[in-house]
Amino acid sequence: SRFFALVPAAGIGERSGAGMPKQYVAIAGRPMIAHTLATLAAVPRIAQTLVVLSPHDDRFEAVLPACDAWVARVGGASRADSVLGGLAELRRRGAADEDWVLVHDAARCLLRPEWVDALIDACEHDAVGGLLAQPIADTLKAGDAQGRVTVTVDRRDKWAAQTPQMFRLGLVERALEALGAAATDEASAVEALGLAPRLVRASMANFKVTWPDDFALAAQLLASCRT
Ligand code: C5P
Repeated sequence: SRFFALVPAAGIGERSGAGMPKQYVAIAGRPMIAHTLATLAAVPRIAQTLVVLSPHDDRFEAVLPACDAWVARVGGASRADSVLGGLAELRRRGAADEDWVLVHDAARCLLRPEWVDALIDACEHDAVGGLLAQPIADTLKAGDAQGRVTVTVDRRDKWAAQTPQMFRLGLVERALEALGAAATDEASAVEALGLAPRLVRASMANFKVTWPDDFALAAQLLASCRT
């Protein structure tokens, strides 16, 4: 079986306040998605990467004129729809049920090849698959609309789910079709089938650039790994 990467990049990124889909915001001199795709291209075991764009996207070819990744304009209303569209495209291009698909957020542009290798090493012989994640260090609070704490959540067994999330194509497709738009990641859809994905520790630096002040933090981290 082969390893494919699938990058959903069809979101509008409204939390970022950037006024454009956040994957096109330049960080350390290159659009965020260029960093993401360069890292995936630096993992030799990944046979090919497929980027899922919105049908209305008018920036990708301009910002990445020479890109080796496959591109499919099949993004949907939810992340799960975009991933399902991408999985169908991978099938059209020859991927099979037993091939592994590593779904990775375009907005996690600080991904490093060694974390992808660690995920593949930990999961390639696993019956279910797994995801990069980070144990929660902070005390967790639930809050109400007025910004007041409603309850403190026990952090002891909690992890923050990251991406890539790695499952066999046939399994993740069946899982997402069953759970639909309610799935904010692939693992939760697989869990809903009664399976337990493996948690593979990565780094807090593999965060999803989401909020306005995340861009500066990501730029500092990218600049510091290059020196
Ligand atoms: O919105 P969120 O931060 O969860 O998005 C995670 C990733 O999923 C982003 O890379 C975003 O572009 C992608 N996405 C998508 N299609 C959607 C919503 C989000 O491809 N409808």
